[in-house]
Amino acid sequence: MRATDIIARKRDGEELSTEEIRWFVAGYTADTIPDYQAAAWLMAVYLRGMSRRETFDLTVAMAESGDQLDLSPVIPYAVDKHSTGGVGDKVTLVVLPLVAAAGVPVAKMSGRGLGFSGGTLDKLESIPGYRVQLSDEEFLRQVREHGIVLGGQTKSLAPADGKFYALRDVTATVSSLPLIASSIMSKKLAAGANAIVLDVKVGAGAFMREVEDARALAQIMVDIGVSAGRQMVALLSDMDQPLGEAVGNALEVREAIETLRGGGPADLREHCLTIAAHMLRLGRRDTAPDALDRALNNVSVLLASGAGFGKLRELAEAQGGDVRVIDDPDLLPQAQLHEVIPAPRGGWVARVDALRVAQATLELGAGREKKEDPIDPAVGVVVHCKVGDRVEAGAPVFTIHANEEARLVRARAQLDQALDVVDDSIPPRPAFYATIDGSE
Ligand code: URA
Repeated sequence: MRATDIIARKRDGEELSTEEIRWFVAGYTADTIPDYQAAAWLMAVYLRGMSRRETFDLTVAMAESGDQLDLSPVIPYAVDKHSTGGVGDKVTLVVLPLVAAAGVPVAKMSGRGLGFSGGTLDKLESIPGYRVQLSDEEFLRQVREHGIVLGGQTKSLAPADGKFYALRDVTATVSSLPLIASSIMSKKLAAGANAIVLDVKVGAGAFMREVEDARALAQIMVDIGVSAGRQMVALLSDMDQPLGEAVGNALEVREAIETLRGGGPADLREHCLTIAAHMLRLGRRDTAPDALDRALNNVSVLLASGAGFGKLRELAEAQGGDVRVIDDPDLLPQAQLHEVIPAPRGGWVARVDALRVAQATLELGAGREKKEDPIDPAVGVVVHCKVGDRVEAGAPVFTIHANEEARLVRARAQLDQALDVVDDSIPPRPAFYATIDGSE
């Protein structure tokens, strides 16, 4: 086979065979196909698209390009979750302990934040001592002993995706449905999950701005998972405004702890209970008509009893984290400067722009523009209102947590454009738009 023939066939809108896709992915992973040919191929895929069969083949080829974790010796049935990335999305920190507390073991590999989207690993690292990089043996031992492990993805997991993703980033080929779907699902398949709950975000602070685009992405990922023999559920959820109140690493860990202690913002609590219930139902392989309701009831009880909080404590301790911080979140890294932004007028909140809030936190140093950028765990923004709330003029709408005056000023400029308040009442935004169930 020749790379130029495969590029030309895709350029001309033809469907590639399974063998051609496997050959191309293997060649790029082994460096026998250079970046310039892979870049041309990616652009051809971007412009011409891929059939469902091609997308599935690409996913499997990338999943098989490196090590594949076999969880079966330690977990009879592994349930995983994935969020397509959002602003204030600390759901994993709440959901994993709840599901583990319900007796369904969870072993999850998470990523770091890039651009406006936060990453669970960065959040976890604001707990002093918490080790995100575990060897495969440590990862498996921990889930066997504690029923919960939450670490970073190893380099040997789906290395083809790592290479393609870096190339997509610099060739304007990120936002292609088959490329996004195969990238996400290759890592999920390689990480050993039998069942996967996808939280596909829609809105200003998400990859997908429109519900119909998010639905199309979700459906492709569900189809890939089902074709690979996995149980799949995808939820489309709102990311037009931030989830919960806190955006920024330590601030989000604090909010996750508060939620597991029975407090926290109502939208975050409801979101976490819904995701946890789907994971629990899949993990139990319970297909009864009332299985989801029972799972929801179970996780609600475990939240109220503090069992989920206990599991987070156990997780932090098992991975070397300082549990005093979990017991007393005031010990988390704290910013030096705080500024409250008041509502410019009274009325009804019509928009809290997740992207603007994310850009404000980037200005503060909570996230990365480039992969190697350092981050400041203490800084971020706390959002005090939701779309549909009534606010009085001068009431606090945002609090900025900063460590440098100049950064605070830049963050304030973003937040000045993040909020609309109007005269007429506005309905709250829905938490979820749709559920795509590929588990029957
Ligand atoms: N997340 C991924 O892992 N890959 C993509 O292509 C987009 C989001």
